[in-house]
Amino acid sequence: MGARAKTLMLVEERAREIFKRYSVNEIRIPLLERIELYARATGETSDVVEKQMYSFSDRDEAETTLALRPEGTPGVVRAYIEAGLDRSDPEQRFFYSGPMFRRERPQKGRYRQFYQFGVEVFGRADPASDVELMVMIDDLRRDLGLKLTTEINSLGCADCRPAFRAALLAYGRAHLAELCEDCHARLERNPLRLLDCKIDVRLAEAAPKSSDYLCEACRKHFEQVRRLLDSSNVPYAFNPRLVRGLDYYTRTAFEVVSTDVGAQGSVAAGGRYDALVETLGGAAVPGTGFAIGLDRITLAVEATREETPLAATAAVVPIGDTATERALWIARELRTGGLRTELLSAERKLKTNLQRADKIGARFAIIVGENELQRGVAQLRDLKKSEQREIPLDRLVTEVNGSGR
Ligand code: HAM
Repeated sequence: MGARAKTLMLVEERAREIFKRYSVNEIRIPLLERIELYARATGETSDVVEKQMYSFSDRDEAETTLALRPEGTPGVVRAYIEAGLDRSDPEQRFFYSGPMFRRERPQKGRYRQFYQFGVEVFGRADPASDVELMVMIDDLRRDLGLKLTTEINSLGCADCRPAFRAALLAYGRAHLAELCEDCHARLERNPLRLLDCKIDVRLAEAAPKSSDYLCEACRKHFEQVRRLLDSSNVPYAFNPRLVRGLDYYTRTAFEVVSTDVGAQGSVAAGGRYDALVETLGGAAVPGTGFAIGLDRITLAVEATREETPLAATAAVVPIGDTATERALWIARELRTGGLRTELLSAERKLKTNLQRADKIGARFAIIVGENELQRGVAQLRDLKKSEQREIPLDRLVTEVNGSGR
């Protein structure tokens, strides 16, 4: 397996482990859905639906048009409604992980098949539920040792969005001759996209901002989001031009950006979608969520790390047959304590085992010989610092955890 694929799997594993603490449950969603689902959810005027979906006609009688999923949110909402949860038990927290497909011109960090790890929370309208999502991503950021910035904005709701949309439309019409080809074509259908146009930057900067049009309830929600982000110590910046490329967002929208992955800096993105469940035929249940781009976060990890903080943390090295018995037990204790641990073979030489420990990127080797066992201790070798010290067996997990992963 290539080094990048391996890092991606390890990042996914860390996300799974960290996010499970937030009591989210895994959901498996299909790779294929009817194309209408994305047209209705992601939006007719989004780039994803207009240009990026891989779709084909099925050979069934109706020649149903199917699409390879370009994102996970619509599929999760469809499954949620189909299971009747919107009415029977609306408050749900899901995560999913897997490949998504978009017709793109491939470049670094932008692929036609890429991997997302997403979280969707239903039945919560409060600002704290938006903030918790950003806290989750921040937990992962800390775990991976990355420098990331969260950019946030509020896009308003069904009450205040029309006035903002009208103001943007008027602005766009007044500058029609100056608009780029894309903005020109979609101005009447989706004037919001003018704000994140990479070509009309100067025009976008001077355009009306959603934050100036928020109704009282949306203004309060956004204020609370910012206050809670401050008190949670999540570094963020207000970006009044952030609109997101998908159409379902209401109120909070955010993007987590890395400066380490080149032009495709958005490593995760999400926001609130209070009208989506109803739009897709369900009850009026609010929702909020995000998806991490696993490929991009992997690039960020590769660009920033000097060592292998994600690889196996510990290798347990028994010396002699009687040590194996105890080493099995120690390895199990370490795993129970949350550490990635590989038990090595007592039939190999110490030197070979240490080479293996190095190869799997272990930070520590725990060497257990008969002599040590009699004294109730093990040798803890820090492979990064090339230091070794004796540790009582009952303090191993705490010591290894405390010495940093
Ligand atoms: P999105 O912004 O389209 O949102 O994608 C989320 C993340 O997926 C991006 O920040 C990026 O890291 C990654 N990504 C997107 N396209 C590509 C690509 N072609 N190659 C590599 N990585 C890519 C969504 O998909 C929403 N469903 C997120 C969401 C969930 N909102 C609410 N809930």
